[in-house]
Amino acid sequence: FDVARIAVVAGDGIGTEVVAQARKVIDAVLPGVTATEYDLGAARYHRTGEVLPDSVLAELAQHDVILLGAVGDPTVPPGVLERGLLLKLRFAFDQYVNLRPSRLWPGTASPLAQVKPGEIDFVVVREGTEGLYAGAGGSLHRDTPAEVATEESLNTRHGVERVIRDAFGRAQRRERRKVTLVHKTNVLTHAGSLWSRAFEAVKAEFPDVETEYQHVDAAAMFLVTQPQRYDVVVTDNLFGDILTDIAAAVTGGIGLAASGCINPSREFPSMFEPVHGSAPDIAGKGLADPVAAVLSASLLLDHLGHADEARRVSEAVAAELASRTPGAPLRTAEVGDRLAAAAAA
Ligand code: NAD
Ligand code: IPM
Ligand code: MN
Repeated sequence: FDVARIAVVAGDGIGTEVVAQARKVIDAVLPGVTATEYDLGAARYHRTGEVLPDSVLAELAQHDVILLGAVGDPTVPPGVLERGLLLKLRFAFDQYVNLRPSRLWPGTASPLAQVKPGEIDFVVVREGTEGLYAGAGGSLHRDTPAEVATEESLNTRHGVERVIRDAFGRAQRRERRKVTLVHKTNVLTHAGSLWSRAFEAVKAEFPDVETEYQHVDAAAMFLVTQPQRYDVVVTDNLFGDILTDIAAAVTGGIGLAASGCINPSREFPSMFEPVHGSAPDIAGKGLADPVAAVLSASLLLDHLGHADEARRVSEAVAAELASRTPGAPLRTAEVGDRLAAAAAA
């Protein structure tokens, strides 16, 4: 990308607060870069009834990357913004690799007493366009005692195989070269069988990558008891959603967890966003940790080919975290200023 076209969707709640800090940091490492802001989220929905107009979707498609804050607000019925905006973007732009790295940074306290900084370093490759998120299902006899609701998990061989192949490729470029498939093949025998067979087929293409399989309930336990064992974890959309909040919790909290919703073909923009949501409980108070958004900006810079700038941002975060006193309150904008200054230097 010669001149990166960056779109910004700050969204709701602390989304706007943390994205402002991520932008400071991007400006610091790429002086003069421009970014186009899109006003989407609860405020627009209340003002106009619009969630994501087709014209805005078409404009967003013209960008290389999207920086997103968070979407969702207590004043809007659940799902309207989450499905209508966030998931619509992930699906429309075929962001099938939902990449969620976890590291225990030096200076960060894990609630796990036995784990030392540096010992946790894995990445979850969460499938981003299928599974229970696809929206299949329905309900009957609403608000009667006979009410029935179903949600169906959509799994295509194409969709499963491509995300597994991406996970193997990532593992091959990492030191430990290990992929863990997480599913629930003992109960979800239809989708589980598809995932297992696709995994075995792709594994044959990567003889130098070690593999293991875990049921998701066991993986939830091992993420807490032995998070050091993971290198690359590949799993479906909902399992990945849940496991990455656990992963965040054991590596210093949700305020540090970054993600990329990647379209590897680059046919459409990829999107970078913190794993956390709009945090209505602390929104507007300037208390949100912007590190997750800033690390997401680092992933964004890396995706744009600015590897050096991306590294400077993550080094600034490392220095920030190393200087923190665990439990001490922070001010969102002050952290952003410090990170921008450190990354610029
Ligand atoms: P949440 O991640 O917003 O908050 C969970 C808890 O973590 C809260 O106590 C919050 O204060 C804390 N927290 C989150 N981010 C933090 C940060 N940067 N610094 C410090 N503390 C932080 O999850 P929730 O409460 O389940 O959801 C709130 C809303 O956000 C809902 O509407 C939900 O749908 C939406 N949501 C959006 C996204 C997204 O946009 N990617 C992700 C998750 C949830
Ligand atoms: C996340 C969020 C979203 C998800 C919601 C808000 C749609 O929880 O990014 O982890 O479930 O993917
Ligand atoms: Mn989530």
